[in-house]
Amino acid sequence: MGNLNTNLCGIELDNPVIPASGTFGYGLEFARFYDINCLGSFSCKGTTLEPRFGNPAPRIAEGNAGMLNSVGLQNPGIDHVISEEMPKMAEVFHKPILANVCGFSVEEYVQVAKKFDACDQVGWLELNISCPNVHGGGMGFGTSCESAAEVTAAVKAATRKPLIVKLTPNVTDIVSIAKACEEAGADGLSLINTVLAMRIDLNTKKPVLTNITGGLSGPAVFPLALRMVWQVYEAVSIPILGLGGVSSAEDVIEMMLAGASAVGVGAANLRDPFACKNIIEQLPAVMEKYGINDLKPIIGGAHHG
Ligand code: FUM
Repeated sequence: MGNLNTNLCGIELDNPVIPASGTFGYGLEFARFYDINCLGSFSCKGTTLEPRFGNPAPRIAEGNAGMLNSVGLQNPGIDHVISEEMPKMAEVFHKPILANVCGFSVEEYVQVAKKFDACDQVGWLELNISCPNVHGGGMGFGTSCESAAEVTAAVKAATRKPLIVKLTPNVTDIVSIAKACEEAGADGLSLINTVLAMRIDLNTKKPVLTNITGGLSGPAVFPLALRMVWQVYEAVSIPILGLGGVSSAEDVIEMMLAGASAVGVGAANLRDPFACKNIIEQLPAVMEKYGINDLKPIIGGAHHG
């Protein structure tokens, strides 16, 4: 059997498959279906300082090859996550997790980051400057080099854990944002978050989502995500967690060839709770089919030669 190990910002993973933030909660619901320790890691739901109810429903819509969400960072707040969710999570998952850090000001990001920094099971902080569904925070920080760099530098100074900055595709030039984050101290980058999109209901002739717009994810965005991972890999020297529409072992390998050290799986978890487990189980056979014995050497492999 081939070697599935990889490394993300200095932490070894048994395999590259990481459920994406917002599609896996804090792991507990999925642990009822299978032993989630088969995962490389997972990224928890984006967490803010205070509890949030999120946006009003409807906040999910279908796309032709994917789905739209406008959840609006619903979460119970960092103190509840640490006191209630993390102890339960530690019973079912025994590896480091990514803590997805959200905020509406630089100070809020820093406060959430400091609280996660004190948690033993948090391996990496994933700085979410890319949620498209809130006003005054999220993606607002990730669409200019200046604000992306400012929040990256502030959070970097507040943590001892590797800092992975999650980027939005809703910009003209993702490479310049990626470079600004690297220069500001990011240890890694994750990309892409969802693509700003909308649907209109032909019966009501109004937008389907109460928030009007939402983030598109699923197979429709895979080629777009792959292109961005490719471009960012060419421009930075920090590791990339590649995600966006990944739904098969073949997609994982393609992402790694484009430059991803590890690979996030998002919308696929909502369609099939076993998606990540199935991808991990299928990886050895797909690797063998394409003559791959070891995943680490293929990272960025499509750029060379
Ligand atoms: O609306 C949401 O909660 C989405 C979060 C994200 O895309 O990071």
